[in-house]
Amino acid sequence: MWMPRGFADQVRDQADIVRIISDYVTLKKRGANYVALCPFHREKTPSFHVHPGKQIFKCFGCGQGGDVFSFVMRMEGCDFPEAVRLVAEKSGIPIPMPSKGSEYDRAQQRRQWREQLLRINEWARDFFHQNLQTPQGQKALQYWHRRGVSADLIEQMGLGYAPSSWDALSTFLRRRGVPEEHLIRSGLVVRRSDGRGYYDRFRGRIMMPITDSQGRVVAFGGRILDDASSDRVPKYVNSPDTAVYTKGHHLFGLSYAREAIRQAGYVILVEGYFDFLIPFQAGIQHVVASLGTALTEAQAMLLRRYARKVVVNFDPDPAGRAAVLRSLQMLVQHGFDVRVLTLPRGEDPDSFIRRSGRAAYEQLVDRAPTYLDFVIAQATEAVDLSEPRARARALSEILPYLVLIPDRIERAASGDRVARRLMLDPQLVQEEIRRSMRRLREPGSRSATSDQQEPTAEEAVTSRGLVTQAETLLLRILLHHPSVATRLKDELRASRAALAMTTTYPLFEEILARLERGEPLTYATLASAFEQDRMLLDVLERALITGGEPDEERVYREARGCLVSLQQRQLEHDLNKVQWEIEQAQQRHDVASYNQLLLRKLELSNRLAQMRSRPMVEVDA
Ligand code: UTP
Ligand code: MN
Repeated sequence: MWMPRGFADQVRDQADIVRIISDYVTLKKRGANYVALCPFHREKTPSFHVHPGKQIFKCFGCGQGGDVFSFVMRMEGCDFPEAVRLVAEKSGIPIPMPSKGSEYDRAQQRRQWREQLLRINEWARDFFHQNLQTPQGQKALQYWHRRGVSADLIEQMGLGYAPSSWDALSTFLRRRGVPEEHLIRSGLVVRRSDGRGYYDRFRGRIMMPITDSQGRVVAFGGRILDDASSDRVPKYVNSPDTAVYTKGHHLFGLSYAREAIRQAGYVILVEGYFDFLIPFQAGIQHVVASLGTALTEAQAMLLRRYARKVVVNFDPDPAGRAAVLRSLQMLVQHGFDVRVLTLPRGEDPDSFIRRSGRAAYEQLVDRAPTYLDFVIAQATEAVDLSEPRARARALSEILPYLVLIPDRIERAASGDRVARRLMLDPQLVQEEIRRSMRRLREPGSRSATSDQQEPTAEEAVTSRGLVTQAETLLLRILLHHPSVATRLKDELRASRAALAMTTTYPLFEEILARLERGEPLTYATLASAFEQDRMLLDVLERALITGGEPDEERVYREARGCLVSLQQRQLEHDLNKVQWEIEQAQQRHDVASYNQLLLRKLELSNRLAQMRSRPMVEVDA
């Protein structure tokens, strides 16, 4: 749309951002501002603010903000001039008629070219499609059928074939009156490098029209028929950027899937052309393809207009893994409820559905773990979680993902879930999330000096959170009261499993070994055993410095209290673990394990209850 210079500023001055925004969300007055639930991400408490004086909006949850035009652009998914027009209309500001001028002419020309290009693309699609009926096109038709694509789908989506010829399409289009310059600007035809003449971009390939969300043909993808030659020519060739197509701005299949996505309430995001075609044909129609593993921000925003839940079914080769993770993060940042589907044996949706059928696929979709559980699973894979420092390490791996979650409440809930899984203190995890977010916001604090001072998440968790009071008190007693230590030998041995869950376990092992051998417990000998371990030495030193207590009976009772509390802690951890396994079994619909786990949970809770009700020797703080 054309408009005179300065018109946008005039509209911005005259429009009332509060009135415009309240057409979309329910605003509540709070002080000088208005607040609402943010329309750009999911949240349960309002962090979306509108400032009438400054005429701006800002969401403190997801960070979106700007003036009235940025709001309308995001809401309507339109461009700047369109937003200006909408705001002017809503505010009753008359839109000036275009006066003839060069600016106007240029805008007009661009619009005309876009329309022409869309027409050229339609002609090209029809040309490719009709080729399937020619003798030369038979092998392409057979290829489509061999890959399981039906005649109906070929018809519905206008799938086709580009013949093995340097000029079949250009000749066809020229006969329709398309000038040479337009052929080249359309991207369908490539100018020869010596500048003399041109040739068709797509040759000897099956062809897939790429449509925008309205169903207009904006570009093409073409695939070779013979995989054997793929080491010399690329398997897929796509249109270059044009006036109607920017790579990474569209989603393959969206115009066909729109309705089904709305009905299903979520979308399945896949990677390749056939990963769209085969599920779609099998009746799973709420699916779109990103055409590559690296989802772009534009694609995330486009998708967000149709769904807030997405099941991502990419099949990453090892090289593509980083791109998959980036895509998942991008979706989380845009407020999607993200689930991650990984198919067995490295299959893609196309091959899986062809081999195992629609029902099997749908079952896997239903059970796809949430993004958070996926990240947790990755961070804890082959990790011994009874080892406290392994848990701290896992947390520092998961933290970067937690801080991406835009909604505060969801982020906190996710933190609690991670804490449960890693058997860490939830407070501590929340604190680490806040610390990471602060660090992200203040890039200055990443300087060399503060990096040295700031402990990593792993260090922080290890030193502050994992060493319990019971451990330190017990250590102190053992080191200061040799006679109590000797009396406690059997109980220490019996509590080995509980002690093994503590961060300072190596110290207890060493102490126990010395007690068994009847050797004295001195700082010097113990310290030499842990020279390499700063954290253990620190705990040891602190235990030695804080003084002893004269009444031996009382000290002995205290030490036993510590052991009991450590045993309780172990039981709580076991319970946590069982609870986690129960949830996993539930997701897998694995009834047998589920029942078994429930019994185990019951047994553990009973033991814990017994332990808690037993009259306990009081532990003095
Ligand atoms: P894949 O190589 O995973 O292939 O590319 P695929 O989709 O399973 O293809 P088939 O089943 O062998 O036909 C995934 C997607 O990456 C893009 C395409 O969009 C493809 O569908 N791609 C791949 C390219 O653009 N160019 C290529 O050379 C290869
Ligand atoms: Mn494939």
